[in-house]
Amino acid sequence: MSDARTRTGALRRAAMRLAGAHVLVTGASSGIGAATARALAGTGARLTLAGRDRARLAAVAAATGGDVLAYDVATQAEELVARAGPVDVLVNNAGVGWAGPFVRMPAGDVERLLAVNLAAPIALTRLLLPGMVAAGRGHLVFVASIAGAVGVAQEAVYSATKAGLLAFAEGLRHELHHVPGVGVSVLLPGVVDTPFFVRRGTPYTRAWPAPVAPERVARAILAAIRDGRPESFVPGWLRVPARLRGAAPGAFRALARRFGGMPGPAADG
Ligand SMILES: NC(=O)c1ccc[n+]([C@@H]2O[C@H](COP(=O)([O-])OP(=O)(O)OC[C@H]3O[C@@H](n4cnc5c(N)ncnc54)[C@H](OP(=O)(O)O)[C@@H]3O)[C@@H](O)[C@H]2O)c1
Repeated sequence: MSDARTRTGALRRAAMRLAGAHVLVTGASSGIGAATARALAGTGARLTLAGRDRARLAAVAAATGGDVLAYDVATQAEELVARAGPVDVLVNNAGVGWAGPFVRMPAGDVERLLAVNLAAPIALTRLLLPGMVAAGRGHLVFVASIAGAVGVAQEAVYSATKAGLLAFAEGLRHELHHVPGVGVSVLLPGVVDTPFFVRRGTPYTRAWPAPVAPERVARAILAAIRDGRPESFVPGWLRVPARLRGAAPGAFRALARRFGGMPGPAADG
């Protein structure tokens, strides 16, 4: 898929120069978001780093430069955007997990995952996209997960929030085909070595697949913005199970059961 079509119908991508761009990274206080901020630091982009933990945000900002905005994306999206001002690149990265049998999942955790992982990126996009469309220039990044492409046992709600993000991004991409300067990218990481698992309360214990470094996802995010890449799997081999799930869902389910579930943030849960 691409962000726009040329007059001849050929696929075209909305690439974006980072130098001089104002980039808002949510979840910049930790893991993938902090690594993305560090990767952006040398590009000439102006950074706004968002999260809730002011001290950790300040520590990241000390290394990367940029402004710090401590807000809860689930409840304070409007305040965050009002303080950030016009944004050229929105990296929707803040997210939370929960692992365990769905029937034992507390209602409050269901609501929290839906609010942080799905409703907040939609709210931030609703507030910031009009400015990008008016400028004819901008980029939306959604850090989803392989779980959103294949569905992972013990993490049904997490998978649903990430599947929702993928569908939201795809719908926007179609809708924005007439605004060639505005791009939409989704990232589908597998297991990434961040505090995500400790925070969700269920550590990652599998020997395989080995977690990848958050810097690898950060590099993929920068490449997606610069080249207008619509979809990036990290590591790249994860596109195989995702494609199989789409092309042959029966075969995929049989294989997934045989091998004990899909490798992903939740497969250990
Ligand atoms: N780690 C993995 O294996 C993996 C795999 C696939 C996808 N992902 C996705 O990658 C993204 C980043 O995760 P990570 O691995 O870097 O985890 P992480 O180290 O736990 O970082 C999560 C970030 O989200 C922020 N956040 C959480 N709730 C928030 C809220 N209500 N308001 C504002 N910020 C909030 C946290 O900031 P504060 O603590 O300062 O609020 C933190 O900066 C998530 O969307 C996650 O689903 C992770």
